Amino acid sequence: MLVLVGLVLSLASVDALTTFPPKFQVGQMNGDVVVKCNTSEQQVSWTQNGDPEPMAELVAEGQTLTILGLDLPAAGNYSCWAGTVLLDSTYVVVSSSREERMNISCQTESYHGSFRCSWTGPHSAVFRARLTHSDGSVGEWVLASSHHGQFGASFMDPSFCPFAEELQPLQLQLEGLSDTSYLNVSSHFFIRDIVRPDPPQNLTVWWQGEQLLLTWAPPVSWPLPKSYFALLYRLQYELPNGTQVDKYVEGVEETQLQVGTQRVRISCQDPYTNPAWSPWTAWQDLDATQQSQLRAH
Ligand SMILES: *[C@@H]1O[C@H](CO)[C@@H](O)[C@H](O)[C@H]1NC(C)=O
Ligand SMILES: *[C@@H]1O[C@H](CO)[C@@H](O)[C@H](O)[C@H]1NC(C)=O
Ligand SMILES: *[C@@H]1O[C@H](CO)[C@@H](O)[C@H](O)[C@H]1NC(C)=O
Ligand SMILES: *[C@@H]1O[C@H](CO)[C@@H](O)[C@H](O)[C@H]1NC(C)=O
Ligand SMILES: *[C@@H]1O[C@H](CO)[C@@H](O)[C@H](O)[C@H]1NC(C)=O
Ligand SMILES: *[C@@H]1O[C@H](CO)[C@@H](O)[C@H](O)[C@H]1NC(C)=O
Repeated sequence: MLVLVGLVLSLASVDALTTFPPKFQVGQMNGDVVVKCNTSEQQVSWTQNGDPEPMAELVAEGQTLTILGLDLPAAGNYSCWAGTVLLDSTYVVVSSSREERMNISCQTESYHGSFRCSWTGPHSAVFRARLTHSDGSVGEWVLASSHHGQFGASFMDPSFCPFAEELQPLQLQLEGLSDTSYLNVSSHFFIRDIVRPDPPQNLTVWWQGEQLLLTWAPPVSWPLPKSYFALLYRLQYELPNGTQVDKYVEGVEETQLQVGTQRVRISCQDPYTNPAWSPWTAWQDLDATQQSQLRAH
């Protein structure tokens, strides 16, 4: 009998959200919440999470329902009915009292005004987010994807200009609903601070006379013109005796290598804004290339 009661209780409270409810209301813990049924019916009946006997102290009057002394069991999906006809539903949650550390991290590979953010949250939560653009307009709510407590969403600021200095930070607002509580967090940042370029491409070794040359191209996603969107490159290569050397070059896409260099890789960075280096390219082994090219020579 006890087991059965436990099962019923947990079924009633675990009504995990799968999407952001169209209508929700946030109440303070121990406060009263007034839920309205959007209908022209004069008398309605109420259910909480589909149950006609809600786990809360309620006063129903005409089209309104007052939840007295909101607590966690009283949270959930309140629906009003005319007989068996569903009229309206409101999801009631408790305002989260503690300041949540959401650890929101945003990143983009270029200056096109779009970026992706991710954050961690309760497994059972659903999140939506919206962006206040650089011209002050407010974007649509975007439903975040979720995977084991990791949430993410992509955003686009159509008024972002890659050639102008950003004067105002963008503002991202996150709203989260778990079974019982509400989270409201915002984050401010500049696009220039979240840019991390993709790795350079087309890393190629050439012989020019007796000299070994390395050439490459900027990442496909990096904006043009090159004169404006400069890149600083960091090369890492291994000498014949195994010593690893770092070399930095800016504004060029070729450099000379010591003959006998074992392998090389490259990454890049926007030299004027934030210090995030791109991921490295894969190591490129030069031995085979040099041998075959030497023979062809
Ligand atoms: C709330 O309950 C109603 C009636 O059962 C259902 O149609 C609706 O999808 C539920 N809403 C949420 C967010 O679970
Ligand atoms: C109430 O219902 C009407 C008709 O379905 C709808 O147009 C209106 O937006 C609803 N109002 C609220 C506050 O949900
Ligand atoms: C925040 O997120 C970053 C990247 O996802 C991670 O490296 C870091 O450890 C996180 N910090 C906290 C406090 O969770
Ligand atoms: C969430 O926070 C924003 C500001 O950060 C505020 O304008 C908004 O009213 C809050 N929403 C709720 C439901 O408390
Ligand atoms: C990369 O290399 C390929 C093949 O050599 C060439 O067709 C392409 O134009 C190069 N791309 C860039 C951006 O230099
Ligand atoms: C490896 O070679 C470089 C240049 O040829 C030299 O400067 C360096 O001292 C050498 N390192 C070792 C460990 O022999």
